[in-house]
Amino acid sequence: MKTRIYHALDLEKANVQTDIKETFLRGDNVVFPTETVYGIGAYALSEIGIKNIYRVKGRPSDNPLIMHIHKKEDIFKHTKNHQPYVKKLINHFWPGPLTLVMEKQEHVPKQMTGGLNTVGLRMPNHPVALKVIEIAGVPICAPSANLSGRPSSTMVEHVIEDFLDRVDIIIDGGQTTVGLESTVLDVTQEIPMILRPGSVTKAMLEQVIGQVLEGTDSEQPRSPGTKYRHYAPKGQLTIVEGSQEKMIAYIQDQIEKHHLNNERVGVICTKDLRDEFKNAVVFHVGDPDQEEEIVSNLFPALRKMDQYQIEYIYVAQFAKGTYEVALKNRLLKAANYQVIQLT
Ligand code: TXA
Ligand code: MG
Repeated sequence: MKTRIYHALDLEKANVQTDIKETFLRGDNVVFPTETVYGIGAYALSEIGIKNIYRVKGRPSDNPLIMHIHKKEDIFKHTKNHQPYVKKLINHFWPGPLTLVMEKQEHVPKQMTGGLNTVGLRMPNHPVALKVIEIAGVPICAPSANLSGRPSSTMVEHVIEDFLDRVDIIIDGGQTTVGLESTVLDVTQEIPMILRPGSVTKAMLEQVIGQVLEGTDSEQPRSPGTKYRHYAPKGQLTIVEGSQEKMIAYIQDQIEKHHLNNERVGVICTKDLRDEFKNAVVFHVGDPDQEEEIVSNLFPALRKMDQYQIEYIYVAQFAKGTYEVALKNRLLKAANYQVIQLT
């Protein structure tokens, strides 16, 4: 298969619109940007389309997909028995990086929901994503556009790395704005529960609807996608926590040891530490107080390490502030929970 790559501007052209629509309706895949990360989309009610996503991503079939819609009202077409606070959430956070898990209606295929009676829905806050769904004229399911287990794609280059000539269409919309996947919130119960932390935080949700619970990874995972190794670069990643001084000393010490063995080492840190390490590929995610910049640079940093074939990666812990929970969640999974705590 030869992938057709379109630019966001091409979406105005009638022939491109027809191509996108027909590709979806045939059950083939279209990759498009959202405000969080790129998504690999399929017609959500097409069993062929869904199957293709699982096959192309190499994704386990019990890990459900999120349905993407372009109008808030479409939530009532596909889900039922809504809690009273759901309307408030939609009015406040949609379009945006919040996925709501609700009871599904009969017509939503179980292949899409990993066999569950619930379905996750979201209305993305990105003109290209909204346009693509509108052009399709049908609901679109879209997991993050990365091979299963790899870091999500925040730039079209990442998508091309994973999917060139493996999907029909890739739409280039530049770098995604948020850079981290949506917050997944189970809203089937009286008190909602966060299944995957994201840039819509517990505090932000509680301001609008009151108490919100946080599922932890130590619990029985309720969001099936959270039980697999995720976001992982090819090298072995270790998170280092402690005072700056101790982190620097520990990491440099490790670098020297690897260096003696001719092993390639990388460091991911904030900008203030970028000149502290010798004999390593250093990628900084931004100024420590530029939280949004840090969030958007996490996945590119992990991908960069692969690009330079780094075998051992050390992260000088930088998750703090508003997005601490979400950043730490992704880092821990990328590191397979390997953390060095320096006291
Ligand atoms: O920001 C995003 O959410 C991106 C963009 C493309 O929209 N999509 C994304 O999809 O991250 P994916 O498939 O990579 O992650 C979906 C997460 C998984 O952890 C999955 O287990 C959870 O949402 N999920 C989806 N439907 C669910 C359901 N019915 N019940 C529980 N968890 C669900
Ligand atoms: Mg994903």
